[in-house]
Amino acid sequence: MRILGIETSCDESAVALLEVRDGRTVGLEHLVATQAIHARYGGVVPEVAAREHSVTVPLLLESLAERAVGRPDGRALGQAVDVVAVASGPGLVTSLKIGLDHGRVLAAAWDRPLFAVNHIEGHIHSNWLPGAEMDGAWDADGDIFPALVLVVSGGHTEMLLMAGHGQYRLLGATRDDAAGEAFDKTAKMMGLGYPGGPALARLAEVGNPKAFDFPRPLLADPSRDFSFSGLKTAVRYFLRDNASRSGERVFLADVAASVQAAIVDVLVGKAVRAAVESGVRSVMLAGGVAANAELRQRLRERLGKEAPGIRTIEPPVGYCTDNAAMVAAAAYFQAKSRPADDWRMVQADPHWEIGR
Ligand code: KG4
Ligand code: ZN
Repeated sequence: MRILGIETSCDESAVALLEVRDGRTVGLEHLVATQAIHARYGGVVPEVAAREHSVTVPLLLESLAERAVGRPDGRALGQAVDVVAVASGPGLVTSLKIGLDHGRVLAAAWDRPLFAVNHIEGHIHSNWLPGAEMDGAWDADGDIFPALVLVVSGGHTEMLLMAGHGQYRLLGATRDDAAGEAFDKTAKMMGLGYPGGPALARLAEVGNPKAFDFPRPLLADPSRDFSFSGLKTAVRYFLRDNASRSGERVFLADVAASVQAAIVDVLVGKAVRAAVESGVRSVMLAGGVAANAELRQRLRERLGKEAPGIRTIEPPVGYCTDNAAMVAAAAYFQAKSRPADDWRMVQADPHWEIGR
């Protein structure tokens, strides 16, 4: 099955052509264009994002055709595609619509089935892409379900119980900021730019995670919910009270490492407890923050020590943040289990939640 994926939920325009045969990935071309323009505003401006998508998506499709069929020919690309998949929510509605409209038009013009995919379900399916443990086991995942999925992105922090592809139950979610926002907002206060998560993680590598004791909100709370806004506020006051040290690189590295340790402690502590209580076979990471090396290592260590029977499943680092290959991967399983969507009817749903 050859699946064209399209992703425009936020500020990444992305297209991919994924080919799965006999339970293996046999081909993947993928292109991502991150909209640099938002860095100047310190966050994503929805109107600007949508306009950028409408310029970029056709160009990406043209480049994808060049790669996949050797020439910038839409008709030839259509002949190389069996299924069209597009992320239709959650996200920014104006951004989602651009990708969805491209998917609808292509499905209609090429006469191919269209699958509107949930963006979070896409993130989860990055765990089946090349470089992931599950690649090569597309049709044989009996030993990983039920899985506890820890979704950690810029917009979402939640734990889902996944009984199988398309079968989710929400266990808990953040009450305020997402984990990615906790990284991004503290990074911004430290002058590390936007989005600051990766920059903060890099700086943390040379810092002492025990230097400063920042709060671990809801860590000891038996609920499966998260909360990160208190941590952000604590860091804000700490930086204000230590403003005279804001130019010291060692100080900033220690703050970065201590903030990262607090976020990771909460995520890992809550996920491990929920996994043990739910009797799952695996804990699966998904979303942009799943690229964080400290999170991966600490999760592996804690599960290894406290629940050695539970597997840790990590997406390839290159497919953690928004991409279209993950959308195509999710559509592969949907194409096998449900009828396609009608291109005439399908709509973007900016608040689409799975597992509720
Ligand atoms: O999943 P994603 O691409 O977008 C949403 O769907 O929201 O996630 C983006 C988030 C940003 O907050 C970014 O700072 C964070 O993922 N992120 C990281 C790392 N790489 C990306 N956070 C911490 N450490 C990283 N290495
Ligand atoms: Zn995302």
